[in-house]
Amino acid sequence: MGYQHLQFPEGTKFLVTGSAGFIGSNLVESILNLGYHVRGLDNLSTGKRKNVDLFLHYSSYEFMEGDIRDLETCMKACDGVDYVLHQAAWGSVPRSIELPLLYEEINVKGTLNMLEAARQNGVKKFVYASSSSVYGDEPTLPKQEGREGKLLSPYALTKKTDEEYAMLYTNLYGLDTYGLRYFNVFGKRQDPDGAYAAVIPKFIKQLLNNEQPVINGDGKQSRDFTYIENVIEANLKACKASSEAAGQAFNIAFGGREYLIDIYYDLLKALGKDIEPIFGTPRTGDIRHSNADISKAREMLEYDPEWSFEKGIEAAIDWYKEDLEVLKVV
Ligand SMILES: NC(=O)c1ccc[n+]([C@@H]2O[C@H](COP(=O)([O-])OP(=O)(O)OC[C@H]3O[C@@H](n4cnc5c(N)ncnc54)[C@H](O)[C@@H]3O)[C@@H](O)[C@H]2O)c1
Repeated sequence: MGYQHLQFPEGTKFLVTGSAGFIGSNLVESILNLGYHVRGLDNLSTGKRKNVDLFLHYSSYEFMEGDIRDLETCMKACDGVDYVLHQAAWGSVPRSIELPLLYEEINVKGTLNMLEAARQNGVKKFVYASSSSVYGDEPTLPKQEGREGKLLSPYALTKKTDEEYAMLYTNLYGLDTYGLRYFNVFGKRQDPDGAYAAVIPKFIKQLLNNEQPVINGDGKQSRDFTYIENVIEANLKACKASSEAAGQAFNIAFGGREYLIDIYYDLLKALGKDIEPIFGTPRTGDIRHSNADISKAREMLEYDPEWSFEKGIEAAIDWYKEDLEVLKVV
């Protein structure tokens, strides 16, 4: 279980793209704590400078400010690197519906640049963030790799295209690639602000500020909310996976199912608040239910998530309470 026991040779170097973002910064932190070298790459477009500065006191950490849309930047970032954990992308289904061209540039061209740079630099493993959105309108639950439906957004299309390119890079050039289809990740440093913020940090912040959150739709939609520690485990286990598992994509979730309305009332209770939500219109491109069958990752990556939703949400609430208090004092 977990990833603390995993060992890599001394001096192993990881490149984390999107290192100033939510998932990237958590990967950086965990790998540094395990004692390995990390290079972060980020253009600080949705990421935050403070997520870079947090780790500058580690001599085994370096940060490159740069854009994955530029091949030369990707080449420099991959120089001397053993493992690439590629997280840089623009997220959010609704924003991709507004900006399809930009999503193609960043999420597809950027990922292709990273694959090419990893190949030319002889990187050992290329692990990258895909998404549960690739299941599109497929109604079967739980979601299973190989049973994908019609895509519902430009964001989903970019992630599906990334998977196709990664599989080609494995088959044509022998680069070991592993696609991780994350399902609604949550945890510390996830941005609570802005129109496209994820629901858990947004609700926590609004409730702490005594604001009335808006639930899109009736709140009876369900998701396989996945705590960040499970995602870190998946990334590091993929670095240890066999070449036979390369060129494929894997569901990365806890394998549970939470209804948004229940989460809302759980948060109220945990935060000691009594605020009724506003029910808004459902969002275009959203699916009603999503939960994952994680048996493929269990079998092929030895992924064995140890953080249930309940345990994760407690840890996340504690972190936000502290972080938002600190912000208020400053
Ligand atoms: N958070 C989730 O629930 C979730 C679910 C499914 C998939 N994902 C995927 O996981 C990855 C990380 O997501 P996150 O939630 O940490 O998002 P995030 O926005 O917090 O982090 C993404 C980071 O990528 C950086 N970035 C964006 N465009 C870039 C570019 N052109 N060049 C260099 N850096 C760039 C941003 O500045 C940011 O720091 C993304 O690929 C996302 O699509 C996330």
